[in-house]
Amino acid sequence: SNPNLQSRGALVVLEGLDRSGKSSQCSEIVSYLQSIGLATELWRFPDRDTAVGKMISAYLSNESNLDDHTIHLLFSANRWEKRDKRSLMEEKLKAGTTLIVDRYSYSGVAFSSAKGLDFNWCKVPETGLLAPDIVLYLDITPEKAAERGGYGGERYERLDFQRKVREKYQDLQDASWKIVDACLPMEEVQKKLREHVLELIKACQNGKPFSHLWL
Ligand code: TYD
Ligand code: MG
Repeated sequence: SNPNLQSRGALVVLEGLDRSGKSSQCSEIVSYLQSIGLATELWRFPDRDTAVGKMISAYLSNESNLDDHTIHLLFSANRWEKRDKRSLMEEKLKAGTTLIVDRYSYSGVAFSSAKGLDFNWCKVPETGLLAPDIVLYLDITPEKAAERGGYGGERYERLDFQRKVREKYQDLQDASWKIVDACLPMEEVQKKLREHVLELIKACQNGKPFSHLWL
């Protein structure tokens, strides 16, 4: 039998500007899916717990300075290191677990290219990573995002920079993207995300094949 047609979990990525509501919506979807009996895990990038993740964390809080290319490659390495045997994304999915992932390669490319790095150069280190089955983009203007209690003190949390990031996100959109208006009431955003995810999980249970970035 064709191994690509085996039932599996779904790889769901949420993307959006800082303060678009990704993290809250990610936790909400995970609790919802678990409550209806679906094996689900919450992942996030950067994963600040690994050795690479600690370097990223120090950079983001301005405790360290790194060349733009260097930090870009560290963010990417932080995704590659999750292919480590015991936490392999693909193994989880094959075992039937759905992964809800807070940021992925699209953040990597959008944030680094917004600094002026070449867009295609930014995509290269992501090549070959598992492609998400769906990208749920929580769309919000940087102005609206900033009104939500303001930004924290981290490096990228500035209005002018977030405007550039939003433009780069637009250049990354492909057929796997669903744009959700992040300014709708939270329950409505929740409802739309749930609908997209439930439909996708069904397709993955029916053996939707894996694909890889950036094919
Ligand atoms: P974020 O998800 O906002 O973490 P937290 O909720 O702890 O603030 O991620 C931190 C920042 O890292 C965010 O501004 C986006 C940026 N980022 C990159 O520049 N490249 C990447 O590859 C990723 C995953 C995030
Ligand atoms: Mg943040």
